[in-house]
Amino acid sequence: MKNVVVTKDLVKEFGKLRAVNRLNLEIQKGEVYGFIGPNGSGKTTTIKILCGLLEATYGESFVLGRRMPDPSVYPRIGYMPQESALYPDLTVSHTIGFFGELYGLRKGEIEKREKELLAFVDLKGRRRTLVSNLSGGMKHRLSLAVSLIHNPELLFLDEPTVGIDPELRASFWEYFGNLTDEGVTVLITTHYMDEASKCDRVGMIREGKLVAVGTPEELKKETDTVSLEDSFLHFIRRSD
Ligand SMILES: Nc1ncnc2c1ncn2[C@@H]1O[C@H](COP(=O)(O)OP(=O)(O)OP(=O)(O)O)[C@@H](O)[C@H]1O
Ligand SMILES: [Mg+2]
Repeated sequence: MKNVVVTKDLVKEFGKLRAVNRLNLEIQKGEVYGFIGPNGSGKTTTIKILCGLLEATYGESFVLGRRMPDPSVYPRIGYMPQESALYPDLTVSHTIGFFGELYGLRKGEIEKREKELLAFVDLKGRRRTLVSNLSGGMKHRLSLAVSLIHNPELLFLDEPTVGIDPELRASFWEYFGNLTDEGVTVLITTHYMDEASKCDRVGMIREGKLVAVGTPEELKKETDTVSLEDSFLHFIRRSD
């Protein structure tokens, strides 16, 4: 199986704080990889390094076969940040247009993607609404649509389902499954264990270190627990 993300003893320090501590990740092409861990365990920091937004202090990371940071990778990856990065003064439609142009899509392609993506995130009726007037969950949905606009091969989704209603959450997961059928790889962080259970593999991170990795079934078996939540608590508390 081909790895599309690899990190080798990745370290990120913010002054005296070591947010990522010799992290070794291997993510395979076409899988939904759940990256889970407590608040402050280094998930967002790791994702930012993998997207070229932060520089590692030590160690190496490879994305789609390129050593990061490498700008040639950027058009091939999609990133939905944990904090909204949308412009409040743009309408929904203009937001899609703006990011579509940024990725160099042609007008016709942008129009086609806008239709598809706004249907997917259920914002078709909001094309002319200003981002500042969307509800919190709607902003999140638009942010997900933006991360998908250029049909990326690899998606980094940092808590994409926070504040999303259950029906839409279910449709998001269905969509992620469809994407991976087409060979797209998805790295997703979540604090919802029912979602983590839907991932092909889960990596558990604690204080910047990977403490467990495997399919949800493997992780439950390893800890002799019936729920992934119990397995998570086992791994997260183990070295206390
Ligand atoms: N720019 C920064 N400067 C200083 N410290 C930072 C910075 N960014 C993150 N940190 C610290 O690094 C640690 C890891 O943060 P990070 O955002 O990666 O955690 P996380 O696993 O994504 O948490 P959450 O589940 O709450 O999103 C935290 O202690 C955080 O305070
Ligand atoms: Mg985070």
